[in-house]
Amino acid sequence: MQYIFNSALAEETEALGKMVGKLLFPGAVIYLNGDLGTGKTVFARGVGLGLGVSTPIVSPTFTLLNVHQGRLPFYHFDLYRLEDESELFAIGLDECLDGDGVSLVEWAGKFAAYLADWPALTVTITKQGQAERQLVLQAESKSYRQILAALERGDDNDEDNGY
Ligand SMILES: Nc1ncnc2c1ncn2[C@@H]1O[C@H](COP(=O)(O)OP(=O)(O)OP(=O)(O)O)[C@@H](O)[C@H]1O
Ligand SMILES: [Mg+2]
Repeated sequence: MQYIFNSALAEETEALGKMVGKLLFPGAVIYLNGDLGTGKTVFARGVGLGLGVSTPIVSPTFTLLNVHQGRLPFYHFDLYRLEDESELFAIGLDECLDGDGVSLVEWAGKFAAYLADWPALTVTITKQGQAERQLVLQAESKSYRQILAALERGDDNDEDNGY
């Protein structure tokens, strides 16, 4: 199952991430793919906001992993600088993916074969113009398909609509 979202602004990408973040469950895994500067970290920031994280969400390019606490622990990985599959275990990736927090992995496609062992929501971002981005959200297993179905229905728990 796929859900396609066309974003015209960074704020729209963040808002989509936030909606996804609100729908995530303990143990959820998100893989993010897309070229440099397409908006993976912008999307991740939205996910963190949707999880209620209040610490700043910055790129883990150099740290490899940033950990935040929201309504669930939020493990934000960036594998761009990793060369070797053997390093994945050393940075604690397996433990996070197996845990009860939410794990989000930028540049997951670099280690797709390894990461295929975990069911996940996969987001692929493509640059279409200066600020236009296409986000393709893909889910196979039921719990992630339910998230895409909620996005399709336009469920938005942002605030009550007050009437
Ligand atoms: N529609 C959009 N969605 C997301 N980001 C956008 C959009 N339009 C412009 N941008 C800009 O593109 C940049 C995306 O940067 P970001 O760090 O999120 O990319 P990234 O994919 O995480 O890169 P990296 O591979 O280096 O981690 C930001 O400067 C953001 O403001
Ligand atoms: Mg990034």
